[in-house]
Amino acid sequence: MLRSVILAASRSPRIERLVETAPYTRDVVRRFVAGSGTDDALRATRALVADGLAVTLDNLGEDTVTAAQATATRDEYVRLLGLLRDAGLTPAAEVSVKLSALGQRFDEQLAYDSARAICAAAEEAGTTVTLDMEDHETTDSTLDTLARLRKDFPATGAVLQAYLRRTESDCRELAYAGSRVRLCKGAYKEPESVAYQSALEVDKSYVRCLNILMAGAGYPMLATHDPRLIAIGADRARWFDRDPDRFEFQMLYGIRPEEQTRLVGEGHTVRVYLPYGTDWYAYLMRRLAERPTNLAFFGRALVTKK
Ligand code: FDA
Repeated sequence: MLRSVILAASRSPRIERLVETAPYTRDVVRRFVAGSGTDDALRATRALVADGLAVTLDNLGEDTVTAAQATATRDEYVRLLGLLRDAGLTPAAEVSVKLSALGQRFDEQLAYDSARAICAAAEEAGTTVTLDMEDHETTDSTLDTLARLRKDFPATGAVLQAYLRRTESDCRELAYAGSRVRLCKGAYKEPESVAYQSALEVDKSYVRCLNILMAGAGYPMLATHDPRLIAIGADRARWFDRDPDRFEFQMLYGIRPEEQTRLVGEGHTVRVYLPYGTDWYAYLMRRLAERPTNLAFFGRALVTKK
C-alpha cells in the first residue's frame, strides 16, 4: 500500500517540486546518488574500483519528451565513456541506459539510434552497455531493441524483472552463450494481470529465474540486496561451477555497502549501480518505496528546517 503511494508520487510533478525544494533533501539524495556532474561520477567510480568493485554508471533521467533532451543524454553517455577510458576505468566501469531517456516513448527509432551510438562508444572504450528495464509497457520494445543492438554489439546487457509473470520465459530465451542478463525483482508499480504482487511470490519467481540463468550458458548478473537470494545465488554458483568471471552480483550505490565489500572479500565479482546527474527524483522515490525506514529518514529531512 505504502509502496504504491510512493510509486504514484514518483510521477507527480507537484510532489517532485515539494521534494526538490525541501531543506535537507540533498543529504538524502547524496546517500544514493554520486553527485550532479560527470566529475562526481568519475570520482565515485575511482573510489569503488579502488575497493575492488566493478561499476555500472547511470546518467539519471527518464521519460524524455523531446528529441533535444534525448540527444543530450546520448552525448553525455558518449562523453562519459571517453572519460572513463582516458581515466583507465574501463572495463571495470560500464554504463546502464534507460531507453525512455533516449526517446523510446515518442520515437523508438531515435532511441535505437542513440543506444547504438552509446554501444559504439562503449566498444571503443573497451566496455559494455546494459539496457535498464522500465515499466511493463516498454518490455517488448526494450527487448526488441536489445535484440537489434546485439547483432552488432553482442555484449549488450539485458535486465529482466522477476515480478513480471513473463520473466521465466524471457530468462529461457536469453540464457544463451555470451548473453549478459541482469536479474532484479522490479521497481515499478505493475498490475496483477502482468506482475506478482506479494513479496513471497516475487522472491519465488526470482529463484526460478536465477536457476534458469545460472544453469544456462549466458552471463547472469544477480542484482539484489536480499540476503536470502544472495545466499542462493552463491550456492548455485558452486553447484554450476561458476567462477567469479562467469557471473556477478550487483547492488545499488549506497545500499548495503558492507555486504558489497564482504562479497568482494569472498572472491566474488560485485558491480555497483552508480547513478549521477540532476534528474534524481524518480530514482530516489523508487528507492524510498523499497524500504519504509528510508522513508522515515526522508520524512525527517522534509520537515527539518535548515
Ligand atoms: P528487497 O527490496 O526485498 O530488499 C532486500 C533487502 O535489501 C532489504 O531488506 C534491505 O536490507 C535492503 N534494501 C533493499 N532496497 C533498499 C533500499 N532502497 N534502501 C535500503 N536498503 C535496501 N529495477 C527495475 O525495475 N529495472 C531495472 O533496470 C533495475 N536495475 C537495477 C540494477 C541493480 C544493479 C539493482 C541492484 C537493482 C535494480 N533495480 C531495477 C531495482 C530492483 O528491481 C529492486 O527494486 C531493488 O533492487 C530492491 O530489491 P532487492 O532485490 O534488493 O530486495
